[in-house]
This record gives sequence, structure tokens and C-alpha cells, in this order.
Amino acid sequence: MGRFVLKDTFYKKAKQEGFRARSAYKLKEIETKFHIVRKGGAVLDLGCSPGSFLQVLSEMVGEKGTVVGIDILPTPPLPAKNITAIQGDIRETDISAILSGLPFTSFDVITCDIAPNLSGIREVDDARIEELFGSVVKTVEGGLKPGGHFIIKSFFTTVQKNITDELKRRFEKVSTYKPAASRSVSSEVYFVCMGKK
Ligand SMILES: C[S@@+](CC[C@H](N)C(=O)[O-])C[C@H]1O[C@@H](n2cnc3c(N)ncnc32)[C@H](O)[C@@H]1O
Repeated sequence: MGRFVLKDTFYKKAKQEGFRARSAYKLKEIETKFHIVRKGGAVLDLGCSPGSFLQVLSEMVGEKGTVVGIDILPTPPLPAKNITAIQGDIRETDISAILSGLPFTSFDVITCDIAPNLSGIREVDDARIEELFGSVVKTVEGGLKPGGHFIIKSFFTTVQKNITDELKRRFEKVSTYKPAASRSVSSEVYFVCMGKK
């Protein structure tokens, strides 16, 4: 029963406040706790469609900031001038090509809310998650400034430990956080990674 009440609350709130998905509140909660995004900053959002992270990030960085999103699906246009959404598969994305069209050389923050397409067959899914994670890490390596911060959604799988270890090698501090806006039955957590080495 509880989870239906929770779903209803965040779903209704998102509708009322004009956010495209309840995920908006997950990012807001993470920001309230960790203070990741600064005004005027540049943020890259991986797996951005339908665009609620983009909406929240756009407000956080303000008019002088930049938000770039990538998703394999199209992202319906958003009115804010500081948002650019690109359609593309992260596994085939060359971050240096994206950066070459921007007035800065790296992002201050990268967020990743990608939900991999899973089959239910553990071996297949673990391989998919590892491939996807490898592409995300490559993007972070080439696109995030030293000292920059990274937020990534993760699901508990058998490859979870490899992912945690990899993040700990690359960042000064890695915390896990389960927002109240995540469904309570979901195993979804976010890794909040501060200070790229
Ligand atoms: C939970 S949704 C993201 C919601 C988004 N953060 C928001 O607030 O609106 C996950 C997204 O990951 C995207 N995705 C899955 N695999 C991808 C890939 N290989 N490259 C880019 N995006 C991918 C899906 O198309 C989907 O839109």
C-alpha cells in the first residue's frame, strides 16, 4: 500500500510542478544533501529523456550555465535556452566531439540516470551493464574536469562490486544514496562521486 501512496505523491507533484518525470525529485534530494551543482556550471546528463533531470539542472545552473543531455531516445524539446539535448547511444558517443562544439573543455558535473534494457537473464544483463558502465566511465574520463563530481544510478547486480571499486579508484569520495522519491520496492540507489582524481 505504502508504495502506491508514495508513487502517487511524487507523480502528482511532478505533474503539478511541470516536471516530466518523478526523477526530478531524486536529483533535487541528492543536490540538497551533497551540493554538487553550482550556478554558471556545465553539466552533462546521460540518459536524459524525457528530460526531468535536464529541467532541474537547468534551474540549478541558471541562465549562465550549460546543460547537455544525451539519450538513445529523442528528448521532446524544452524551452530553457541553456539546455541542449542530443539523440545518441552512449556506447557510440565520442565525448571529445561533443566538447569540441562547446565553449569549454570539460564538464563540472556529469549525471547518469541510464536504465539499461534488461533481459532478465543474469549473464546477459551483467554483460550489458558492464558494457554500458564501461562507456559511461570512458565519457567521464574524457568529459569531466579533475575535481568534478559524478552521480550515477545503479542497481544491485552481481557486477555491483566491480562498479563500486572502479568508482572508488577514480573519485576521492563515493557515497550511496537512496532518494525518498525512489520507489521503496526498487533496488535503485545513486552513487554520488565527489572529486575526480
Ligand atoms: C529512467 S530514464 C531517464 C529519466 C531522466 N533522468 C529524466 O529525469 O527524465 C533512462 C533513460 O536511459 C536511456 N538509455 C538507455 N540506454 C541508453 C544508451 N545506451 N545510451 C543513451 N541512453 C540510454 C533510456 O532511453 C531512458 O530514456
